Amino acid sequence: METIEAIRSRRSVREFTDEDVSDKAVEEIMDAGRWAPSGLNNQAWRFIVVRIPETKEALSKLTNYGSIIKNAPVSIAVFLDSNQMYDRTKDILSIGACIQNMLLAQHSLGLGGVWLGEILKKKERVNEILQAPDFYELMAVIAIGHPVKKVRVSERKQLGELVFREKFEGCW
Ligand SMILES: Cc1cc2nc3c(=O)[nH]c(=O)nc-3n(C[C@H](O)[C@H](O)[C@H](O)COP(=O)(O)O)c2cc1C
Repeated sequence: METIEAIRSRRSVREFTDEDVSDKAVEEIMDAGRWAPSGLNNQAWRFIVVRIPETKEALSKLTNYGSIIKNAPVSIAVFLDSNQMYDRTKDILSIGACIQNMLLAQHSLGLGGVWLGEILKKKERVNEILQAPDFYELMAVIAIGHPVKKVRVSERKQLGELVFREKFEGCW
């Protein structure tokens, strides 16, 4: 899939079939993540892959979007390793790039997934359940599976609402 086509056609997928996702695909997705750019090439992202139903069940209780985690064959918790942090803003931005790479990779593999952020309100509990050390700070959980086939639409603001030419208030 062409990169721009992948960027444009990726949609958040929240309903999955019963089909499993192979370890190879999960590895490929994380491999795409680790090739994201990062400030000073710091690569402060860390991943915990969750497949066991009891663990998914425990995580699902921490978010309004729990049914997505429960129904996805695999979820990946993405952390910032704060022991390896050099600049909080830049490290977190880099992890955003990493997560987007992962979403695009799963889309290119014909899989579907969604970036779950609402669960961050219970991030300490996530660490307890996954036995992650305190210096791992949860950035997101990505739920991944084979998408239920349906049309998914999403809107974006027009460039004209977002961009100025040369100076602020300069009309695009
Ligand atoms: C930081 C962040 C947090 C998000 N948190 C959630 C979430 O908790 N639950 C959810 O269903 N979707 C979540 N999303 C997905 C967005 O709702 C989705 O990307 C947005 O509506 C645009 O739709 P699209 O991804 O299909 O283009 C999150 C996305 C981002 C980037």
